Amino acid sequence: MHREIVITEDGSNTLYIPELNEHYHSIHGAIQESTHIFIKAGIEYYGQNNIRILEAGFGTGLNAFLALLEARESQRKVMFHTFEKYPLTPQEIGCMNYTDYFDPADTLLFQQLHDAPWGEDVPITSYFTIHKHKADFEEVNFHEYFDIVFFDAFAPDVQPRLWSESMLTKFYTALKPEGILTTYCVKGTVKQALRKVGFNLKRLPGPPGKREMLRAVK
Ligand SMILES: C[S@@+](CC[C@H](N)C(=O)[O-])C[C@H]1O[C@@H](n2cnc3c(N)ncnc32)[C@H](O)[C@@H]1O
Repeated sequence: MHREIVITEDGSNTLYIPELNEHYHSIHGAIQESTHIFIKAGIEYYGQNNIRILEAGFGTGLNAFLALLEARESQRKVMFHTFEKYPLTPQEIGCMNYTDYFDPADTLLFQQLHDAPWGEDVPITSYFTIHKHKADFEEVNFHEYFDIVFFDAFAPDVQPRLWSESMLTKFYTALKPEGILTTYCVKGTVKQALRKVGFNLKRLPGPPGKREMLRAVK
């Protein structure tokens, strides 16, 4: 899959797939968007000291990196499972500029997330362990195990199958009761599907450049 590097409005970069006309993050700011939707409306809202997160998909590793920094800052233990079918190349990883926005001493942590082998628990810090699944979201098969789902798939117009009721049911089943799923997508058909599989929805203000986002509660 051909991917191009694009600078977003907050200066952090993202990837663009011309074939799909799809970006990995908001062009209004990649770090800004991830922080708003997944860290603040996800982890900080949930607010417990020992949490398990399921991400779809790993991509640039930005969400994982921000979650790792948040875990250290708030001294909460995070077990982070993430699925990815089309991993970045080492060259693409090397072009991501996210660590420029944080303490230079943390640069190595971003690389360690990418270097972590697939298919096993890999402790990165004393607060954050990652388990990367090199697999299709189809293979998500957990039962009431996770506190939070970061639902960060490509948009439903591009990959409708990933937002279907059968796929969303997998993520619903993977969550514990009261667990939450956060996503940037507020499309009507997605809201309908989320409600149908059992979620209660809360529309929240979106990150800059986007009016709304969704938090779905089991
Ligand atoms: C919108 S991007 C977000 C990536 C990531 N969260 C980040 O911060 O860079 C969607 C990701 O889902 C991955 N993906 C798309 N279809 C997939 C599938 N069927 N199974 C697993 N991963 C998939 C893509 O390769 C991409 O990395």
